[in-house]
Amino acid sequence: MSFSAVIVAAGSGERAGDGGPKQWRPLAGRPVARWSLEGLLAAGALEVAVVVRPEDRGVATAAFFGLPGWVLVDGGASRFESVRNGLAALSSDAGAVLIHDAARPFVTGRHVEALLAALDEADAAAPALPVSDTLKRKADAGVETAPRDGLWRVQTPQAFRRQALFDAYAAWPAGDAPTDDLAVIEQVGGPVALTAGDPMLMKLTYPEDFPMAERLAGAARITRIGQGFDAHRFGPGDAVHLCGVTIAHDQALIGHSDADAGLHALTDALLGAVGEGDIGDHFPPTDPQWKGAPSHVFLSHALNLVRARGGQVINVDLTLICERPKIKPHRAAMRARVAEILEIPVDRVAIKATTTEEMGFTGRREGLAAQAVASVETPA
Ligand code: CTP
Ligand code: MG
Repeated sequence: MSFSAVIVAAGSGERAGDGGPKQWRPLAGRPVARWSLEGLLAAGALEVAVVVRPEDRGVATAAFFGLPGWVLVDGGASRFESVRNGLAALSSDAGAVLIHDAARPFVTGRHVEALLAALDEADAAAPALPVSDTLKRKADAGVETAPRDGLWRVQTPQAFRRQALFDAYAAWPAGDAPTDDLAVIEQVGGPVALTAGDPMLMKLTYPEDFPMAERLAGAARITRIGQGFDAHRFGPGDAVHLCGVTIAHDQALIGHSDADAGLHALTDALLGAVGEGDIGDHFPPTDPQWKGAPSHVFLSHALNLVRARGGQVINVDLTLICERPKIKPHRAAMRARVAEILEIPVDRVAIKATTTEEMGFTGRREGLAAQAVASVETPA
């Protein structure tokens, strides 16, 4: 089932102590709310309304730089009002809507899949954990034990059949404000499902939650490797395009696009790292619009696919295989250009060159080959 989402990020984080609202504080190098947005985008959200305090629009825009598919919405005085504003801003008519706390950064596609599956049988679903600690109530007369049977701790994201959610919100009594959204469906007697909760869906609430989340952050991301290979034939001409740099040469490389084998191998490496097919799937050589195309377009497209999963490129390593042209004099310019296209520091781009000692097609100078490896970090 397709889904759109609301992320509520308009709180002031009073309980989390100094350091500004918790959703904008860094967690393993990225703002907490960016983790949440990346998680839902990677899970396939069509659009995400992120609800923020009006004064946080600047910090939010910076936090979400480079990510697709989000809009900012002004928050309200309570979480409930913030959710309401977010729902009103959704434009897609996806079958389901997810509502998520920005302060729960470790949401993944696995959580979302389980929730969407539960909507087959219910109007609303949320992850929940059975209460495992003994419960006590502090009363005037001292401390008493409260039964914990049948009690669950409910987390977010919470998932809803779109129409049921909008109807239930419209029917909610004015003045009241529940602390979660399942309550709105409960109020109208709609069917509600609880899916398996996950300690990883912890909400950052108190100062001590931050060091714990830093430790969990390591477990919440995985590193993926992709490899790519390409070769192009030499033909008549006076320059070759390699790694986005034009090099004067007594021949040209022949191809449908600009025949930049270096950028093509890098593109396939990135696509491979995120399991998105190969360059020909995205840019068919039979399609006239790619005739003579500059190959940075292909690499940028692959980068966008990585980012759409909430991923980032860690490093790339490319080997160019040819007798001529000599690569070394152009290596610095090539590294700089690839780093620019991928928006990563130049020390994360390696470009190497080798000959094949005059053996094979590259040795006979019939063509040039390139092979690349890319490593990418994405949500698990
Ligand atoms: N939230 C919101 N609008 C509000 C209040 C809360 O969008 N008026 C959001 C928070 O940003 C958070 C989520 O609702 O992502 C869960 O709320 P909570 O953990 O209580 O966050 P805060 O209200 O920011 O924290 P505190 O209660 O400690 O002040
Ligand atoms: Mg609060």
